[in-house]
Amino acid sequence: MADRSSRLSGFYRHSAKERLRIVAEWADLAEDEVATLRQGLSVAQGDKMIENVVATHGLPLGIATNFLINGRGYLIPMVIEEPSVVAGASYAARLARAGDGFWTESTEPEMIGQIQVLGVDDLPAARQRLLDNRERLLVLANEQDPVIVRLGGGARDLEARILNNTHAGPMLILHLIYDCRDAMGANTVNTACEALAPLVEEISGGRVRLRILSNLADRRLARAHTAIPVEALARPEDGFSGKEVAQGIVEAWAFAAADPYRAATHNKGIMNGIDAVVLATGNDWRAVEAGAHAYAARSGRYTSLTQWGRDVEGNLVGSIELPLAVGIVGGATRAHPTAKLALKILGVKTARELAQVIAAVGLAQNLAAIRALAAEGIQRGHMRLHARQVAIAAGATGELVDRVAARLVAERQIRPGRAEEILGELTPEA
Ligand code: MEV
Repeated sequence: MADRSSRLSGFYRHSAKERLRIVAEWADLAEDEVATLRQGLSVAQGDKMIENVVATHGLPLGIATNFLINGRGYLIPMVIEEPSVVAGASYAARLARAGDGFWTESTEPEMIGQIQVLGVDDLPAARQRLLDNRERLLVLANEQDPVIVRLGGGARDLEARILNNTHAGPMLILHLIYDCRDAMGANTVNTACEALAPLVEEISGGRVRLRILSNLADRRLARAHTAIPVEALARPEDGFSGKEVAQGIVEAWAFAAADPYRAATHNKGIMNGIDAVVLATGNDWRAVEAGAHAYAARSGRYTSLTQWGRDVEGNLVGSIELPLAVGIVGGATRAHPTAKLALKILGVKTARELAQVIAAVGLAQNLAAIRALAAEGIQRGHMRLHARQVAIAAGATGELVDRVAARLVAERQIRPGRAEEILGELTPEA
């Protein structure tokens, strides 16, 4: 396609088949790739991924449109069971285009591997000995994966922390800082930590227990921000000026920033978007969840992962920063047939680029949620999509889905029983 704008107006109005055709053209997918996307994961493929497989479990893969990130258009594959998430992300990305979209950055893709050392008498002295042997330990760590070292990654540094008060007494924790390049890196880091254990015991005089990656990947951060002219936020149909909507968003954020009860829900909304892309690309969404929530609590009080305010020009400005341990090689990212194609649709070239795109999606999802909550309330948009699901469950097909759903919404009665009655009225001969 000559124009690779991700602003696909009216995309949602097409049939699923037609949407796939548009995406295939946009992302240059071959016929067999389109067929793979339609087919999804087979039992035989699943059987190679986990144990005791009996079937595969399908989830919808939707495409969020309109994303402009660092001046480039992206179509965003999202795998999620919850209605309104894909629509919300697309809507927020359209609002962000009224500014110049999202701007993102990320740190080097460094993970932390932890080695727990117990039974040390003089912890500060053992700590110092380990740090004095830094080079030797890093060389040994790098011998474990020459491929990643050749690609520019590998062991970067050591940190040693003393935990004086634990339920098992004092302990020394060695951190191996490891640049994972385009891999998520869990296996590589775990292997390196395993390999270091005997030498760490020798140097420290203690005994090593755990050697495992930390999911609080606070050296692998992604950031996104956006600035939106307030006029773009106006909702005349709901009686709100842009300024009022912006104020509502800032007030909603202030609530999350101050209150962990609200922050948990606020961040859940962010993770709606983040997890959906992490899942679509075959990455470990539990690792990302763990890192995000631990990072949100890093000050000692759990708080919002985003910030919202107004800049000197009056624009609504939002930002997000969180750990995003995602890869584009290894694990399911290449083994899962549709994950591989999700990465192709995204067109990301590095794990860092993927993390940045995901951060922008998280920020967009948060904007969509708190804008709706602060203005018309989340229920209305949700109701429309929920009504469609109730209509389908009641047996509606084709254009009847929308007709039944519209009646349910108009009557404000989204119940399976009422859906069946309406369906009966609309199809008396059935
Ligand atoms: C629902 O899945 C997510 C929201 O609750 C997020 C939020 O409250 O900000 C709408």
